Amino acid sequence: MNELARSHSNGRCASLSTAPPDAILGLTEAFLADTNPEKMNLSVGVYKNASGQTPILDCVKEAERRLVEEEKTKGYLPIDGLGEYRDRIADLVFAGSIERDRLAIMQTPGGTGALRVAAAFLVGQLSPIRIWIPTPTWANHAAVFDSEGLPTESYRYLSADKKSFAFDGMIEDLQKNSKPGDAVLLHACCHNPTGVDPTSEQWEQIATFMSEKRLLPLIDFAYQGFGKGLEEDAVGVRAVMRHCPEAIVCNSFSKNFGLYSERVGGLSLVAVDASEAKAAQSHLKRVVRSNYSNPPRHGAAIVATIVGDSSLTSLWHTELAGMRDRIRSLRRKFVETMARTGSGHDFSFLLDQHGMFSFSGLNKMQVDQLKNEHSIYIVGSGRINVAGMSEDRMDFLCQAVAKVIES
Ligand SMILES: Cc1ncc(COP(=O)(O)O)c(C=O)c1O
Repeated sequence: MNELARSHSNGRCASLSTAPPDAILGLTEAFLADTNPEKMNLSVGVYKNASGQTPILDCVKEAERRLVEEEKTKGYLPIDGLGEYRDRIADLVFAGSIERDRLAIMQTPGGTGALRVAAAFLVGQLSPIRIWIPTPTWANHAAVFDSEGLPTESYRYLSADKKSFAFDGMIEDLQKNSKPGDAVLLHACCHNPTGVDPTSEQWEQIATFMSEKRLLPLIDFAYQGFGKGLEEDAVGVRAVMRHCPEAIVCNSFSKNFGLYSERVGGLSLVAVDASEAKAAQSHLKRVVRSNYSNPPRHGAAIVATIVGDSSLTSLWHTELAGMRDRIRSLRRKFVETMARTGSGHDFSFLLDQHGMFSFSGLNKMQVDQLKNEHSIYIVGSGRINVAGMSEDRMDFLCQAVAKVIES
């Protein structure tokens, strides 16, 4: 009998053992406890501006001002969320590439909530089913799927040099080992943790392959607009829409609207026709009703207000482009500054990666050394949040990285 079962049979929970901390959030705790004034946190997945803040966008502030004046109720939303918001998800994610009545769309608490609802739906309606996830992938994917009892398998994503996409490896793994009816998790853009994305030609081939092998694409779209642009980043979604009759897209507005704590996301199930979409929506609603019942209003109302107003939309586009451009320029600055340190290590591959994250190629020992000797915190895998860098502290960062590489 394990500890939990033993204490439960006594009718108490007093002797529970402590669960392990979340790897990335645990690093943040260590960072906060670090008394070195020079410390730098490049581990967490949030955007930071030049002052090290995660700002509230001006378009969000203005939408909130309007909501405070105009909002009439805090009554419950429907189980599937705010209708207007769900239509805006259809506009942003699908942009007319699929008929609206083939989409069963649920407002969810962030992208994580969408993935969890998707997993419960797959287990409830399509079992036996398993899902193929890339190696590496966002650390929470396996945990979310495990929690719903959805078995996971993995396919190769990164080439042996850890710098580029293992297209052949991915197709070979799925060709050999997956079965028709299996689901496959794909990152739409700005792959977390590597920043390495397929090209548009590769997306065409992935989508064709998935359709021929009758695999179900489950696309995680957490960074739309952080890579190349809102539409450019949807190239994978568009390819899948062209080739696959069914798919699920889990999207998040945490990053592109800077609405992390408002928990704004969506699950869109693409069905073969309108009646299948309607049936799917009814099952998705049952999943949600017995979980969190219905989603929160505020974040969704902000997104709907911004995307429903042309001047707020154009302000949002400008602010999103500002975040994207800043990340790109930090990448460039890091590569140039590293080249000047004379460490002999070429980081120019970072310029081919997209979004907030980069796989730096630093190993666990070097990561530990950065933390222990320089108070620079990055994830054990070598993943760096580029958006956490700052222009004026680039020299400090690059000198430290050069030192750990040389030693
Ligand atoms: C790949 C990926 N999917 C999903 C999420 C979850 O997003 P949210 O914060 O909206 O739940 C994240 C967040 O970091 C992510 O990186």
